[in-house]
Amino acid sequence: MKQSTYHKILITGATGLIGKALSEYLLANNIAVNFLTTDKSKIVTSHNFRGFYWNPAEGNMDIEALNGVDAIINLAGAPIDQKWTDRAKQDIFNSRISSVQTLYENLRKLEHGVRHIVNASAIGYYPSSTDLYYDETFELDESNGFLQSVVANWEASTLDFEDMDVIVTRIRIGLVLSSKGGVLKKLSSLARWGVLSPIGNGDQWQSWIHIDDLVRLFHFILEQSLQGIVNGVGPMPISNRVFVKAIVKSLGRRILLPAVPAFVVKAVFGEMANIVLEGPKVCPKVALDNGFIFEHQTIESGLNQLVGSK
Ligand SMILES: NC(=O)c1ccc[n+]([C@@H]2O[C@H](COP(=O)([O-])OP(=O)(O)OC[C@H]3O[C@@H](n4cnc5c(N)ncnc54)[C@H](OP(=O)(O)O)[C@@H]3O)[C@@H](O)[C@H]2O)c1
Repeated sequence: MKQSTYHKILITGATGLIGKALSEYLLANNIAVNFLTTDKSKIVTSHNFRGFYWNPAEGNMDIEALNGVDAIINLAGAPIDQKWTDRAKQDIFNSRISSVQTLYENLRKLEHGVRHIVNASAIGYYPSSTDLYYDETFELDESNGFLQSVVANWEASTLDFEDMDVIVTRIRIGLVLSSKGGVLKKLSSLARWGVLSPIGNGDQWQSWIHIDDLVRLFHFILEQSLQGIVNGVGPMPISNRVFVKAIVKSLGRRILLPAVPAFVVKAVFGEMANIVLEGPKVCPKVALDNGFIFEHQTIESGLNQLVGSK
């Protein structure tokens, strides 16, 4: 890879699934990483990798974290994948908005060298549909449901950075496939126990991306100065039925149970059930139009590398 034009990047949520992989990738490409964590026990300092404490709920952060930084990648937010009690919903919403605001308010007070902020977002922005194929030009008229409202407000909150002449990108991330956690780890365990099955009617779309492609895409966005919305999904979305079958096959298993009916999923997961029963079909048009090459285009390629059982 040619020499990066970025030397030090500040990452929030760097201790999470995406943040860990992204930090490793940047460090391997000689880009220093500062990170902000809400958990003091996670602060480490090693060569080119330095942690700082922040408390976005109170608008506080160690501003030393911004020293020498030329870009920010904001991944922080309370897990979506938890029971959506009223308290959890508040935490999911507030943690995202307060993280953006804390970065903005602190950056605003400083002479800084930040040229670009990339904020995580989610394909939950797009309405679920079995026929529509969404690219970044789609605009939501009105948000419908909790997740869409979180995503729409989260994205809108990042626009303030444009006043500071900072490039702002929102990356709408799809289902991230990683062997270290997230959906694949959970579904693989079910498949190993022989209890994995399609969910609902199995026709809902799974717009997935391999973790290695996703971290490369974050870096590509910075290097190409891509602005606005970028879909963080691979080029070949598949149905839930095909997705589940591919996982079972990649593990060398044969058994696939009948689909779990939607009412059972709703009874178990409550309001959160919609995130597994529904799914938009999303196209990474901006990435493709700008020449990004996905290394894992098919689900077989993605799974074989991650599950590695073939
Ligand atoms: N993984 C996916 O499939 C996916 C799909 C779409 C969108 N996204 C979005 O991308 C971002 C990163 O995803 P991920 O899978 O890496 O998430 P993750 O593993 O849950 O990590 C998120 C990080 O956010 C920080 N955090 C947790 N609660 C917080 C709070 N209340 N306030 C501030 N920070 C908090 C934590 O870091 P510290 O403990 O160090 O503070 C945590 O490690 C998330 O915002 C997620 O919603 C992920």
